[in-house]
Amino acid sequence: MALLIQTSLCKKLLCLSKALPVMSMKLSTEGTREYIISEKVGEKKNVGLVRLNRPKALNALCDGLITELTEAVSEYDADKTVGAIVVTGSERAFAAGADIKEMLHQTYSENLKVGLLEQWNNLSKCKKPVIAAVNGFALGGGCELAMMCDIIYAGEKARFGQPEISIGTIPGAGGTQRLTRSCGKSFAMEICLSGNQITAQEALTRGLVSKVFPPEKLVDEAIRLAEKISEHSPLIVALCKESVNYAYETSLTQGLQFEKKLFYSTFATDDRKEGMAAFTEKRKANFTNN
Ligand code: CAA
Repeated sequence: MALLIQTSLCKKLLCLSKALPVMSMKLSTEGTREYIISEKVGEKKNVGLVRLNRPKALNALCDGLITELTEAVSEYDADKTVGAIVVTGSERAFAAGADIKEMLHQTYSENLKVGLLEQWNNLSKCKKPVIAAVNGFALGGGCELAMMCDIIYAGEKARFGQPEISIGTIPGAGGTQRLTRSCGKSFAMEICLSGNQITAQEALTRGLVSKVFPPEKLVDEAIRLAEKISEHSPLIVALCKESVNYAYETSLTQGLQFEKKLFYSTFATDDRKEGMAAFTEKRKANFTNN
């Protein structure tokens, strides 16, 4: 009886912990967990590196993996010593999509009740820049996860695609929306309706990724970029990210107004004063995040 009560209490606590906002979790995500490996990297250890690590399933994005990834990203977002985050997978797969086996028996009403895939959105709420370093397959939810990041670097052998149509469904974590915004309607339609994969080179030509590297250099290059970003004022970096993201949400006129207001607001910060003073005095800026 006591065991029964204990088990039911544990289940309730587990449900409650899933319902809590990720930021309130106190778990340390550094190190190896079931589905991810995370560590601070870079010369100054100011880059949070999260590696998806479910090799047997090509990093298929099961619930547990997304929970761990969301926790790690939230923790690095709250960590004052970290300036930017890199998310990567293995050379064979960034991620081959949402876990099809986990979704196999899911019903419409269950999807509504549990809010299937809603947890994924937490990743795009990160205030710090997130760079996706994509080697191998980035398919379905894997491609969508990469597109939730702010910058995508790809290895030469990376493959992108939204193959959901060939398993009788459609993208459910932003594929139809983000791909259309980054690559235009005709190309997004072609990819989502055909289920075809595209190469890293084509992704580059279409503007889906910003640079392509040899596979073995990819993660180092992403870390190098994250280190460069981390040299700047975190406060101003967050404003800049917010302003670029706003371009996806609004008209040009409203976007320009929004940008101007954020630009003006940087003049209320110590870091803007320090940045301009350092330039004038021909020295390196010492930003304080104020
Ligand atoms: N879900 C669950 N398991 C997956 C998976 C996925 N998305 N992708 C691959 N795996 C598993 C395979 O089942 C296999 O496991 P077993 O050895 O236990 O059978 C293992 O990973 C290796 O995969 P393959 O043997 O298929 O490897 P391959 O090299 O022959 O093919 C592939 C690679 C082309 C990526 C192929 O695995 C594939 O097509 N995967 C599915 C891609 C897909 O449809 N993704 C969309 C998912 S739905 C979605 O993402 C919805 C959304 O919008 C969020």
